[in-house]
Amino acid sequence: MTSDYSKLEYWNQRYASEKHYEWCLGYSSFKLNFEREVPSKKARILILGCGNSSLGNDLSANGYTYVLNSDYSDVLIGKMNQEYPNLKWVVADINKLEEFFSFESFDVILEKATLDSFFVKEKDPWHYNSEILIKMNRILSQISRILVKGGKFISLSFTQPHFRKPIYAKPEFNWSFNYSTYGDYFHYFFYVMTKGESLDSACINASISISHFVEPLSEDEEDFIFSIQCP
Ligand SMILES: C[S@@+](CC[C@H](N)C(=O)[O-])C[C@H]1O[C@@H](n2cnc3c(N)ncnc32)[C@H](O)[C@@H]1O
Repeated sequence: MTSDYSKLEYWNQRYASEKHYEWCLGYSSFKLNFEREVPSKKARILILGCGNSSLGNDLSANGYTYVLNSDYSDVLIGKMNQEYPNLKWVVADINKLEEFFSFESFDVILEKATLDSFFVKEKDPWHYNSEILIKMNRILSQISRILVKGGKFISLSFTQPHFRKPIYAKPEFNWSFNYSTYGDYFHYFFYVMTKGESLDSACINASISISHFVEPLSEDEEDFIFSIQCP
């Protein structure tokens, strides 16, 4: 039986005992992708669904001066706050970002496998059900609103571009869509949406030339990867 990654109870229970787990690899694997997109160490960075990954700590150790870690698990945030009191932590639900954060208040909004966890109940990635599409639209609109003009939404994911692009690349979010890959064996996807830039194909072609583009996985392989990556 698969775990219910869409439930707060699941994450609270997991974080009550788990100390550290890194989804979609750690910072060293995508440092080059990230630093190319975020050259300013003064960027105000918000991490959504930070979990007990060391990403926030690694960004701070690499010189980024403003990193706010957020997650909806109060169990997690309480523990992380105790363990890393020098970092910034806040309990925040990604579905209600505008209740927690002001309009145009971040230069970078970063999520790693958080949005992936919302798709675990989907049976067919070619035909997502309307509920998840509406939910993603709402979340992405809020992300766009709290980003400054020129700011970047960076999404690190297991999911291939032919499934993720129709969700991220929409004119109503007022951002461009771009991606590269990272990882040595399995390739993960590093999506970058820049607010205020237009949605055209030029940025997609550019990213292919600086990254290692791999053949998309079959549906079968994708299911398999999901089950082995989700303990
Ligand atoms: C797959 S884990 C990824 C954790 C971390 N980003 C990493 O890379 O290791 C998903 C995380 O999203 C958080 N999450 C799930 N739904 C959320 C929501 N509605 N609001 C905020 N965080 C949420 C979970 O608590 C969990 O920490």
